[in-house]
Amino acid sequence: MVAQQMLQYSQSSSWIRKMFEEGARLKAVHGAGKVYDFSLGNPDLPPPPKALAAMARLASEMSHGYMPNAGFPEVRQTLAAHAEQEHGVKLTPEDIIMTCGAGGGINVVLRSILNPGDEVMALAPYFVEYRFYVENFGGALSVARCGEDFLPDLDNIRRAITEKTKAIIVNSPNNPSGRVYPERVLHGLRDLLADYPDILLISDEPYRRLVYDDIPVPPVLKIIPNAVVVTSASKSLSLAGERIGYIAVGPGVHERQELLNAMTMANRILGFVNAPAMMQQVLAECLTCAVDMRIYRKRRDLLRAIFDESSLAYAPPEGTFYLFVKAPIPDDIAFCNALVQERILAVPGTGFGWPGFVRFAYCTAEDTIRAAGPGIMRAVAQVKS
Ligand SMILES: Cc1ncc(COP(=O)(O)O)c(C=O)c1O
Repeated sequence: MVAQQMLQYSQSSSWIRKMFEEGARLKAVHGAGKVYDFSLGNPDLPPPPKALAAMARLASEMSHGYMPNAGFPEVRQTLAAHAEQEHGVKLTPEDIIMTCGAGGGINVVLRSILNPGDEVMALAPYFVEYRFYVENFGGALSVARCGEDFLPDLDNIRRAITEKTKAIIVNSPNNPSGRVYPERVLHGLRDLLADYPDILLISDEPYRRLVYDDIPVPPVLKIIPNAVVVTSASKSLSLAGERIGYIAVGPGVHERQELLNAMTMANRILGFVNAPAMMQQVLAECLTCAVDMRIYRKRRDLLRAIFDESSLAYAPPEGTFYLFVKAPIPDDIAFCNALVQERILAVPGTGFGWPGFVRFAYCTAEDTIRAAGPGIMRAVAQVKS
C-alpha cells in the first residue's frame, strides 16, 4: 500500500533520525542522564516570557477560526513593516504569507514554482530536509559544494546550474556550519545570478536572530532582486513545535502577483489551510523578542574549549546553536560510532553532504556539555589509535 518513494525514505532514514533512535536505545539502557545528546536542533531554552504571556492571553481573547489562507491581514501588515526594516526594501502586507514554520514555507514556495523535472540547488553542507522538500513536487536537488571556509563557492554554483535550475536555496546563519554569509558573498551571488535572471533565490533564515557578537546578517532582499525569504519563530522564540513562520517576497521577484497567488493557494491545498491562528498573533507581538543568546554563547564556548583541548578544528561558529567539527579521522561515521560508545550522540557530516565533519547541536544543558568532555576526548584518542 505504501508508496515506493516513502518506503525508500523510511529505509534510508536520515542520520539525525538514526542518531535519535540510537539515543532512545541508549537512554532506555543507561538512563537519560547518562546519555549526552547533541543530535537534535530542538531548542531547549524557554520561549521569552512575553511570548508565553501573549499565548496565555490570546487563548481566551481571540477567535480561533479560519482566516484568509495567507494569514491575518493585520499580522501581515506588522510583519511587512518588520521585514522591511530587516531587508531595507519596501514591502506591503500582500508580500507576506504566513506559514507553518520555515519548513512549511519552503514547501509552499517549491509547490508554487516547480514543474516535474525542475532542479533546485542546495549548497553543501545543507539541511537534510531540502532533498525531501524538493522531491515532494517532482523536483530534483542539485548540490554545489561551499568552499573549505563553508561560504558559497561561486564557481561551483555556476558549474552546477543547468537549464532546469529553477531555484537556489541558501541558508545563513547556516545549519550545520554555524557560518553567516557576509555581504560580499551575497554581492558575488547577485552578480552571478544576473546571468540567470529567472533563477529564484530562496533564503532560508530561521536562524537570523541567532548570531554572536552582533555579526550582521545581510539583507538578502535588498541585495538579490529575484528572491524570497522564508523564516520562522522556531529557533528565535523557541517555538519550534508551534509551527509559525512566514515568507517575504522581495520587490524584484518575477511574476510577483502570480507567485503570491500561487503561494496562497499552495498554503491551502498542501493541507496547511493557514498558519496557526494564535501563533500568528503571538509572532506579531514578539518581533523584538528573542531567546537569551548569552546561554547559547556560554554553551558554545564550553564545547569549543573541549574541541580546542582535543585539537579538533571547527567552522567559525558565528550563529545558530551548532558546532561543525572536523573529525579526527576522515571517516565521520566511524567517529560518530566511537562517540556512541561513550554515549555521546552527534550527527555525521555525511548527512549534510559534507563527509569528514560532525555536527554537535548545543541545545543541551551546560552540565551535559561538561559531562561529555572526557568521553569526547576518549573517542578522539580511540579513533586515532
Ligand atoms: C536550515 C533549516 N531550515 C528550516 C528548518 C525548519 O524550521 P521550522 O521549524 O521553522 O520549520 C530548520 C530546522 O531545523 C533548519 O535547520
